[in-house]
Amino acid sequence: MHDPVGPGPLTRTIRVQPELVALRRVVRRDRRVAGVGGRRGPGPPEQEPPDAAFVGHERHTEVGTETSEVGRGLDPPLRGDQEVPLGRVGEIGGVPIAFRRWTLLRGDRHACHARALMSTVFDLGTPALVVDATALEHNLATMAEALPGGRCRPHVKAHKTTALAHRQREHGHQGFTCATAREMIGMAKAGLGEDLLLANELVDEDRLKTLAALDARVTVAVDSPRTVAAAADAGLTECLIDVNVGLPRCGCAPDDAAPLAEQAASRGLSVRGIMGYEGHVVGLTERSERVRQTAECMALLRQAHDAVGGELISAGGTGTYDVNTVATEIQAGSYALMDTAYGALDLPFRRALAVHATVVSTNPSGGYAVADCGLKSLGMDHGNPTIDDATVWFCSDEHVTFSINDDGAGAQLPAVGDRISVWPAHVDPTVAYHERMHITDSGRVIETWDVDLRGW
Ligand SMILES: Cc1ncc(COP(=O)(O)O)c(C=O)c1O
Repeated sequence: MHDPVGPGPLTRTIRVQPELVALRRVVRRDRRVAGVGGRRGPGPPEQEPPDAAFVGHERHTEVGTETSEVGRGLDPPLRGDQEVPLGRVGEIGGVPIAFRRWTLLRGDRHACHARALMSTVFDLGTPALVVDATALEHNLATMAEALPGGRCRPHVKAHKTTALAHRQREHGHQGFTCATAREMIGMAKAGLGEDLLLANELVDEDRLKTLAALDARVTVAVDSPRTVAAAADAGLTECLIDVNVGLPRCGCAPDDAAPLAEQAASRGLSVRGIMGYEGHVVGLTERSERVRQTAECMALLRQAHDAVGGELISAGGTGTYDVNTVATEIQAGSYALMDTAYGALDLPFRRALAVHATVVSTNPSGGYAVADCGLKSLGMDHGNPTIDDATVWFCSDEHVTFSINDDGAGAQLPAVGDRISVWPAHVDPTVAYHERMHITDSGRVIETWDVDLRGW
């Protein structure tokens, strides 16, 4: 059954989140104790007073020990005289903590000092991409159970983040799908190049040569004599024949697949099989219709595969991951983070991704409020984003205008300064607007990941 509501860290405003309000008070109080006020972000190492504290705790440790209380959970373990970058995760009393800055200063026994500041969603400048760790884990585990190992080739275009791809790898998916050369390069450099598929046509000579030189297994999609020649000229060695199965985008006609495969082979390319993306079907809300139309698409792909052969039939997406029974591997991407468009389907994945925004203006007589995320922080091609218990009127460049739904109990507009969660309608372009995503657990920022596969 579809569970559309992963427990988001902020579902309405902070006024109805007592746990988070309490958390914020704790953080503020402890910062005062530590005497660091609102200082933000990593800074150069500096001498700390011996009694400096973090989140109510104080720890001293020996230089170079790996058993440090605060160092537990860090991999590799801390050395002395070392600064830990923003976003590293450790553990204090079993609670995962993201360290803004952590400096171990060289010195005598017990002179080494560690300090960290716990970060919460309230510390994030908005708009901020926020991922609920529990929902993300649920989604990754659910997919890994349904399509283990090579049965799923996660598409990284949906999250553009190697740290997230590493998590998918930990769940057993060793092959990945990419849409751009930049994604391929970034994945290879992140040590995730075991089996990378560029499920897209590319004729840029320089980029193709860069792909050929990667320390990775690289397979590219081809759908024309020109793309075959470009891949072979660049020194690439493996390809898939991309077949059009109904989406008016890339892919050759099924009947052209075999001659193209012969051409590829004659140019020294090894043809691993075929791919065909049923992108016009993945979003159909009616499951029976998805089943019917996927079968039609896959009949075309099977016909092409009969003629081409090869170990791979690569197809599918989040919406067809469990109805596409022809593909040997499913190229699902959105399932990890999800969006409201896919949330409308009967899928077992939870919404894990929100854009956190701050209410910057209200108009009580007009009955609306305005928050600071808009077209430049949200992918809008699948429609307006969603705000729980509210109606989104429209988005403009930097703003979303919304009203609160009448709940019969006098629901009020949020106040200026309140935080809200805005649920994007389309995950891929939303993520691509942001430089980093913050992984949270009950409002605590436990990790910060660079969205490092952006660009082309
Ligand atoms: C070639 C290709 N394969 C697979 C997908 C599946 O992605 P998702 O799981 O997000 O539907 C996409 C998405 O656009 C795609 O372009």
